[in-house]
Amino acid sequence: MAILVTGGAGYIGSHMVLELLDAGEKPIVLDDLSTGFRWAVPEGVPFIQGTCGDQALVRQIIRDYGVTDIIHFAAKIIVADSVSEPLDYYDSNTSQTRNLIACAIAGGVKNFIFSSTAAVYGEPKANPVTEGEPLIPVSPYGRSKLMSEWMIEDASRAHGLRYVILRYFNVAGADPKGRAGESCTIATHLVKLAAQAALGIRPALEIFGTDYPTSDGTCLRDYIQVTDLARAHLMGLTHLRKGGDNLTCNCGYERAYSVHEVIETMKSVSGVNFPVRLSARRPGDPAAIVAGNKRVREKLGWLPLFDDLSKITQQALDWERRLHNRNINKAD
Ligand code: UFG
Repeated sequence: MAILVTGGAGYIGSHMVLELLDAGEKPIVLDDLSTGFRWAVPEGVPFIQGTCGDQALVRQIIRDYGVTDIIHFAAKIIVADSVSEPLDYYDSNTSQTRNLIACAIAGGVKNFIFSSTAAVYGEPKANPVTEGEPLIPVSPYGRSKLMSEWMIEDASRAHGLRYVILRYFNVAGADPKGRAGESCTIATHLVKLAAQAALGIRPALEIFGTDYPTSDGTCLRDYIQVTDLARAHLMGLTHLRKGGDNLTCNCGYERAYSVHEVIETMKSVSGVNFPVRLSARRPGDPAAIVAGNKRVREKLGWLPLFDDLSKITQQALDWERRLHNRNINKAD
């Protein structure tokens, strides 16, 4: 049984590959290296550079490796960019996913695990948000992912492809063994930016909005550690292989932290009181979004192992330090 991991050279995908290797599975990585890194794919794992929408290539990979399952991460993920360049997002996240699904069906792939997002909910009326809540995405990013969810569901009904769709909340942290982390060159996520501020890679951290209707005025988010998230995919795959039902599940800890709390935690684990600037709200940010996680716990038996913001920020900091040293050494 071979598992095709699209986007396996990226942040979450590279953790997925490690999780699969640790479980004795055989991953194959397809990645166009637009944001991922060749070095992020462990030695010995077959790597193909290309896009997941290239049907000739994907069909050949499925044939050559006898792919039985696909875990699909390859996507564009920056919400603000999706607003300025929506068609790029519909191309990468929707059209290419459509082609990948078509290849999966034509090639007899049995199981499809899809990387979706909390952005499909938009601004939820109540938290924690559960999977049955209205899906009203407010960004092209969220809409591009929601359309893919619908395609997978429709293709499953028509052609029998079996699926688990996982809606991620705020993914953060790094592999506890230090083998992988968030390496993108343009950082936008709070925990990574805070790690960079602690290491002096950036002069200060901005807080986008301090007038939200929350306890301290900053946005509330549900930060899920990346290995915990990767494990949910493996459990989803095991569930499908055992004949379990198609599923759509939130992935988060059902616990909220404010931007201030994340910053204070990073300051505390790093011991650095880095400068923080209070700025205006960032357009499109919901005030609060927290995962209701009963379904993923009950249906997949998933249990978080790293539900601890100090551990998550420490992992992000350790990885950022390693990455920075690596980049400095490369420049030399
Ligand atoms: N933030 C700051 N300063 C920064 C960066 C972020 O104050 O420099 C704040 C944001 O305003 C937000 C919180 O930190 O309130 C988290 O922001 P991130 O950019 O880390 O993450 P988002 O919540 O915007 O986005 C995440 C995922 C998206 C997904 C979205 C769904 O990264 O892929 O959740 O809600 F679409």
